[in-house]
Amino acid sequence: MWQCPLCQHALDTRSSSWRCVNNHSFDQAKSGYVNLLPVQNKRSKQPGDDKPMLIARRNFHQARGYEPLMQNLHKLIKSHLNGYKTAYTIYEAGCGEGAYLAFVTQALCQDGYDIKAFGSDIAKAGVEMAAKKYKNAQFVVGSNFDLPVAAHTLDVVMQIFAPGNHIEYARVLTKQGMLVTVDPGPNHLCELKALVYTKPELHNAPQLLPDPWRLDEEQRVHFNVDLSADTLKQGLLNMTPYTWKLTKEKYEDIMQHLDTVTADFIIRVWRPQ
Ligand SMILES: C[S@@+](CC[C@H](N)C(=O)[O-])C[C@H]1O[C@@H](n2cnc3c(N)ncnc32)[C@H](O)[C@@H]1O
Ligand SMILES: [Zn+2]
Repeated sequence: MWQCPLCQHALDTRSSSWRCVNNHSFDQAKSGYVNLLPVQNKRSKQPGDDKPMLIARRNFHQARGYEPLMQNLHKLIKSHLNGYKTAYTIYEAGCGEGAYLAFVTQALCQDGYDIKAFGSDIAKAGVEMAAKKYKNAQFVVGSNFDLPVAAHTLDVVMQIFAPGNHIEYARVLTKQGMLVTVDPGPNHLCELKALVYTKPELHNAPQLLPDPWRLDEEQRVHFNVDLSADTLKQGLLNMTPYTWKLTKEKYEDIMQHLDTVTADFIIRVWRPQ
């Protein structure tokens, strides 16, 4: 299912150096991930989220900050799997440090499904963290706008707060496959935004996808995150872009006064028609 990012031919992944018929080769790193992002497709030296953000997100997920979202995601995907088979390929595009993919994969395996899981992100640091920690999936460095994946090979693609290209998703999904998107709902982190901005705005509703996509189900998931543990609070502050421009004083002020925050998400299941 992996394809060469340079010539789009299938990659032979049986050895630790993945190779296509044209002899383009990509070496597996010690942690198991493979870099399939051609240098010419890199817009900056280190594209994607940086290491401090990825570490913050790792700490937040380890402390189960968004676990209710992960559980809902698992339940929703499970309810949409086609009943006629038990083996599925599942892919997260823009997987960051890998927590969502690992959670959903483990939960579906516990349900008795035979899951092959794959994740990619443009940030090498995230893919490396994911590959080191989560051994139930294969991770690669790659862009969501040019996935290194052969056509019609995936049953489920998840895109969780990441940019992406719906035409690419339609290309890589099987005809019966599903795309699952997760975006912030209107009230997401409203208490944090109220402390950061003088005029905080609600999140806009995520846009509907055009043809060939059909919206199969939409779920709003919201819950409070108790931030009394410092790991959670620091994790949340450092993984979101809101706090980037804060002064030290303002950051400390938020650390002292923010005790709980609203998490608000919109999960959507899409089918290519
Ligand atoms: C807000 S994070 C979400 C990560 C993960 N899904 C999570 O929620 O923990 C967005 C992710 O998209 C990645 N990203 C940004 N542009 C990308 C692109 N063009 N292709 C693939 N990943 C991209 C970032 O590196 C980052 O890991
Ligand atoms: Zn090639």
